[in-house]
Formats: sequence, C-alpha cells, structure tokens
Amino acid sequence: MSSAQTRALVTGASAGLGRELVRQLVNDRGMTVYATARRSDRLEELKAEFPVGKVHTLAGDIGDASFRAELWEWAERESGGIDLLINNAGVGNYADFGRQDPAAIHQILEINVVALFDLTQRAIQAMRARGHGEIVEVSSVLGTFGIPYSAVYAASKHAVDGLVESVRYELRGSGVKLWALQPGRFSSEFRRAALAGRGGDHAKPGEDVAKIARGLVRNLGGRRAFVTPTLQAALTVAIPHWLPGPFRLFMNWLGPERFAREVPDAISETSVP
Ligand SMILES: NC(=O)c1ccc[n+]([C@@H]2O[C@H](COP(=O)([O-])OP(=O)(O)OC[C@H]3O[C@@H](n4cnc5c(N)ncnc54)[C@H](OP(=O)(O)O)[C@@H]3O)[C@@H](O)[C@H]2O)c1
Repeated sequence: MSSAQTRALVTGASAGLGRELVRQLVNDRGMTVYATARRSDRLEELKAEFPVGKVHTLAGDIGDASFRAELWEWAERESGGIDLLINNAGVGNYADFGRQDPAAIHQILEINVVALFDLTQRAIQAMRARGHGEIVEVSSVLGTFGIPYSAVYAASKHAVDGLVESVRYELRGSGVKLWALQPGRFSSEFRRAALAGRGGDHAKPGEDVAKIARGLVRNLGGRRAFVTPTLQAALTVAIPHWLPGPFRLFMNWLGPERFAREVPDAISETSVP
C-alpha cells in the first residue's frame, strides 16, 4: 500500500467481511474509512467503535443506480479524494437455476456485477485523473470454477474476475491498481442472507472472517491480480486450475445431492414452476 493511501470507501460494511475490513483499515493502517450498506443502525454501531472522524457512513441500497452516484460523490467530496475502493458488498441465493426466482437472479447480478462495475468505473475515472489509487474487488474461489445450486453467484464472480483480468491491461502506467480477492467460505451473515428464510443451513462453518480481512489488508499495494487470502482458499483454487479433469470427475462423483444437503429446503423449494 502506498503511504499516500489514507481514505478508503468500503461497501457492505454493516456485517461480515466489510465490517472487519473497516476495523482493520482504521486500527491497523490508520486509515479514514467511508462505509456503506443498507442497515444504518449497524453502520452507526460500527462508527461508534472509533474516534470521531475515523469512520463516516452513508446508508443506502447499492443496487440503486442513483444511490451509487450519490455515494461516490459523497465519498469523494467528504474525503477530498478516495484512494482505496473496496467493492465488498455481495449477495447469493441457493437454488436450482432452472427454477430460480428471476428476481433473485436479478438482485445477484445488480449487486455483485452492475454495482461493482459502476463503482469501479467511477473510481478509475477519479483515480486516473489523480495518477494514483487502488481498487479491490471481493470475488470468491467461485470466480474460478462452478458448483451446483450457486450458479448465478458463481457466474457473477466469474464476471468480476473477467473484469479485473481485462481492465488491468488498460490501467498499466496509470498509477491505478486493480485486483481481486478470492476467499473460500468464511463465517459471516452471507449464507443466512442467501437462504432468506428458506430453511436451515447444514454446511460446516467457514474460516474466520478476521483472517480473510487480514489477507486482503496485507496484500494492499501488491502486484498480483488475484489473491487467495488463506492456504485453504489457495488450494481450493489451485486444484481445479491444475487438475481440471480429475476435479470434474470428483464433482460428478460427489453429485449435486452433496451440495443440496447443505441447504435442503432452499433447493427443494420450487420458486418458479
Ligand atoms: N461468506 C463467504 O463464505 C464468502 C466466500 C467468498 C466470497 N464472499 C464474498 O465476500 C463479500 C462479503 O460477504 P460476507 O460473507 O461478508 O457477507 P454478509 O455478512 O452477508 O455481508 C454482506 C454485506 O453486503 C451488504 N449488502 C448486501 N446487499 C446490499 C445492497 N443491496 N445494498 C447495499 N449493501 C448491501 C450487507 O449490508 P446490508 O444488508 O446492511 O445492506 C452487508 O454489509 C461478498 O462479495 C461475498 O460474495 C463471501
């Protein structure tokens, strides 16, 4: 991370990874953070953890294009120029794709892809003009391979990785860094939100969210396009990459039932006949 980087905008800051990132950026890096999510009460609680002026908040729905414009304009104006954007807000939805509610598909694409592309573009314009800045996209190991019943989510993270892979060429020499974090499963509110009340979650707990945040913060200012924050995530990405044939055989051997058992009610539910 460049020593000039002191002002960060973090999306999805009311829970999970985003909230932990705010804590680590302020406490460990001394940054001032502009934090956003929909739940204003959660943002206020987070802000109250820090000395006055270290965390600023603006609540709103990042799926709304006019809020995104307001958010970027607010963060730039209040900070005097954002030099680190972390596009962390993200949603999932467990479903059989053929029967998935189109509204849920639209929501995933709007939050995970459209909003992220939009804020990335706004940040590139401002940072390029200043000749420096860093943008981190929170992707997933699922940006590199697919699993059953999370197809749209995996596709959304593939889109994020495709953007990063391509735009990095355009940013060469601009002073603007762009990279993606590829975590595996970690503990947060993500799975509960993705179930949206459609039954229980029988999956094993994920990795510690603080460890994932440390993996991101540690890599600020680095050169890599894709960063796996933990050894577990690195192995999860490496195996399908280096051994695609055996990996697909393994997935077929496991069968979709193995994944359906983690969230049985969500998968058995017929949202669209
Ligand atoms: N958890 C995992 O296992 C895992 C694994 C790999 C990658 N990831 C990725 O990591 C990122 C963070 O996920 P997490 O696990 O920390 O999830 P989380 O605990 O569910 O937090 C998601 C955050 O996104 C915000 N958000 C959701 N919809 C929003 C909207 N329409 N407008 C504004 N903010 C919105 C939520 O805030 P409000 O509800 O207050 O709006 C919340 O702050 C996501 O991009 C996710 O895809 C997660």
